[in-house]
Amino acid sequence: MTSEIDTISAIQQAALRELAAASDLDSLDAWRIAYLGRRGRLTGVLRGLAGMPIEERRRVGAGANALKERLEAACDERRAALEEARVTQVIQEERLDVTLPGPPLPHGRLHPITQTLRDVLRAFRDMGFQVAEGPEIEWDYYNFEALRIPADHPARDMWDTLWMDFEHDGRRQMLLRTHTSPNQIRVMEHSQPPIRVVVPGKCYRFEATDPTHEWMMTQVEGLAIDAGISMADLKGTLAEFARRIFGQERRVAFRCDYFPFVEPGMELRIDCFICRGEGCRTCGRSGWIEILGAGMVHPEIIANAGYDAEKYTGFAFGLGIERIALLRHGVDDIRYFYANDLRFLRQF
Ligand code: DAH
Repeated sequence: MTSEIDTISAIQQAALRELAAASDLDSLDAWRIAYLGRRGRLTGVLRGLAGMPIEERRRVGAGANALKERLEAACDERRAALEEARVTQVIQEERLDVTLPGPPLPHGRLHPITQTLRDVLRAFRDMGFQVAEGPEIEWDYYNFEALRIPADHPARDMWDTLWMDFEHDGRRQMLLRTHTSPNQIRVMEHSQPPIRVVVPGKCYRFEATDPTHEWMMTQVEGLAIDAGISMADLKGTLAEFARRIFGQERRVAFRCDYFPFVEPGMELRIDCFICRGEGCRTCGRSGWIEILGAGMVHPEIIANAGYDAEKYTGFAFGLGIERIALLRHGVDDIRYFYANDLRFLRQF
């Protein structure tokens, strides 16, 4: 009789002590099974009630049931405390410091040809030129015919052409423009003097590549037409351009050259900014560097545009952006620009 009661209080003491020591949910579970499970110590006592005399069963049963309730309540309470502790721990461990700086993002930059193109366009815009654009796939008419380069003219040899693979009126008439000069004709078709325009764009040539030639390149065409434009305007404008790009101290020189759409035609040279005219590798020991082609717009082209050729005159020019970028940056092979090697491109 007394011994069962003693057992119950022994169980209570042990159970509460062990419960206090259960430090995580696993050990709490083990504890619950040990005392309250089907084979648990307290369950054993409750099972034993059946074989007891009625008096004893009442007393022992009351004590055992009270303890059962108490242990169950204690277990729930402990479980709640442990779960809360676990949540707090997880929050602590997974805490993010949102004020830490993130990993740096790689940032892009402008391609060296884009940079030089923008500088060139800015120089002309600042002198009052507008910027226009034209198609890369062009008609024979604009690329050659209207520029006074008819089909069998030897000057066609100056531009090795990539033709489009289809015929119109029994012959191939479309091509990848070999220069930006067709835009002289296109601009004149839809505007009236005074005209001051520069036209940037990609051009294509059917030729082998080497350190100074690519099959694709970027040109800027220029056209100015107005009453009374003279060669002095051409020289003043292009000398100013050369100085804005290559330095105010540049000396410039014009030499005769031939282009079918200008008369007279010429090339613009600057004194070599590497050797200052002494003669070096960059200028081919001549002391001078050629930077563009130009000339006075042929009167026939002015008349074909429907302008009064007695009244209006103009000048035109064309330059290669890659060539200018090569010179500015001292790069010795044009092919680097389009090889897409970041080790090269990141230097600009
Ligand atoms: N289109 C010529 C070329 O690609 C460059 C050129 C020369 C353009 C003289 C002009 C010019 O407008 O007047 O070789």
